Amino acid sequence: MHTVHKTPRVTVSQRATGDLEADVLVIPVFEDDPFADEPELDAAAGGDVAAAHARKEFRGKLYEVFQTHAGLPWKTPRLLLVGAGKRQDCTSERIRRIATTAALSARQRRAPRLALVHRDGTGLGPARAVEVLAEGVTLANFEGASFKTEPDTTWLDSVELRVGGAAADYAAHVARGLTMGECSNIARTMANEPGNRLTPQLFAERGAALAREAGLKVDVLDEKRIAALNMGLLLGVTRGSQEPPRLLVLEYQPAKPIAAVTLGLIGKGITFDTGGISIKPAENMDKMKDDMSGGAAVIAAMLAVARLGAPVRCLSIVPMSENMPDGLAIKPGDVLTSAEGKTVEILNTDAEGRLVLGDALWYARQLGATHLVDVATLTGACVVALGKTTTGLFGTPSTWVDAVHAASEVAGDRSWALPVFEDYFEQLKSEIADFTNTGGRAGGAITGALFIKEFAGGLPWVHMDIAGTAWAEEAKPYQPKGATGVAVRTLAELAMAAGSWSTSRAT
Ligand code: BES
Ligand code: MN
Ligand code: ZN
Repeated sequence: MHTVHKTPRVTVSQRATGDLEADVLVIPVFEDDPFADEPELDAAAGGDVAAAHARKEFRGKLYEVFQTHAGLPWKTPRLLLVGAGKRQDCTSERIRRIATTAALSARQRRAPRLALVHRDGTGLGPARAVEVLAEGVTLANFEGASFKTEPDTTWLDSVELRVGGAAADYAAHVARGLTMGECSNIARTMANEPGNRLTPQLFAERGAALAREAGLKVDVLDEKRIAALNMGLLLGVTRGSQEPPRLLVLEYQPAKPIAAVTLGLIGKGITFDTGGISIKPAENMDKMKDDMSGGAAVIAAMLAVARLGAPVRCLSIVPMSENMPDGLAIKPGDVLTSAEGKTVEILNTDAEGRLVLGDALWYARQLGATHLVDVATLTGACVVALGKTTTGLFGTPSTWVDAVHAASEVAGDRSWALPVFEDYFEQLKSEIADFTNTGGRAGGAITGALFIKEFAGGLPWVHMDIAGTAWAEEAKPYQPKGATGVAVRTLAELAMAAGSWSTSRAT
């Protein structure tokens, strides 16, 4: 496998637009407002911008791209105008996406050096703009085609961000943006890996190596230690596979924590999901190589937490297994006993994510987690409910759900809460065990969440269902096809924002 992502060099300047030097100069243009802060733009482009506007080729509609040329005295001859939509609708998410759009477009045009003008008047402030712009260009420097024998990729090398106002030290903001972008790309890289190249053992080794590099404490539990802990749910899922399971535990301890809380991040790490004996149809089964996206997100978020120096203790647990239909596989009707002692009647072996998460949530509590967030490609039902752009949030108490939602807004990962009313739990009733592992078609995302809740031990807990958001089926100007890295930045922002949630109590 060759390089699949690269973090560009990013600098910040206050130079005049005409003095910026790069292969391509990017100027965002608000809709029907092309020259408001760049009065020389049209003249530099020889009237091309006004002409394109007049013939409706480029009007600044959101993420629209228009390439033209600038003449002397401007130093960069190639101009890339990126539509920024209506000025009054501009948000940090749009600015991030404009940067990604510009950088993806520059890479397609084989331009490794970019200069980007930040259009002011959004109320964002230059420091935050620098963060999201650095994040956005880094997200664009990712290429999924890792097994082509003849790679044909132009990487972005350097980006000069021109922000308004007086000169200031933006180094920390650049670093924060680059870290968020790079850690998202690390998660995407792992999620992209095919099942034969990322078995549970290899996934654990890869995660452990990255974590050690970042200075995290690492523990990799093998099948013997997993058995010693009586993790019957994880072991049940693994039975149908020749590949042994792993449980990866990472820990981050700040020098001076601001509160005596521990954020416990748990990620589903199914390296391939065939469905097991309740086997999936052949069509699109290849997509199930990304069934460890939640685990990858949690690992990458821990790297970001370490690099950014989050103010609270964080630990992450990723149960890793294949879900296969071999001779020893669990069967519908089987009963498994979880590490905590609760019994589960298996009605569908394809509802395996909640099983491995159940034992992992219990273990997170054993290690002292006080606030739980789990991330999983859990249900097709969540994709039906919320589509491919919005992560489902489930949890309790609502203050904790709100904290995760707020972090996701800052991160640019869209999410929305669905209910976890206990009425739905009836659907999980079992005749012979404590509960079943499937609640039928109605409210499938919710009953999946309620199953996991049984293992949260009453702690503040949020479940993020990323089945729809982990993988982009079609390319957008700001988002290539493939693994998205969803939830990495949400979890990192949540850890960084601990000051705002660590004092609220569970209700
Ligand atoms: N990994 C799948 C969920 C999934 C489906 C992710 C589609 C991404 C796209 C999960 O393990 C699964 O198979 N869930 C079942 C649960 C059902 C059997 C209760 C589902 O959603 O059909
Ligand atoms: Mn499944
Ligand atoms: Zn699955």
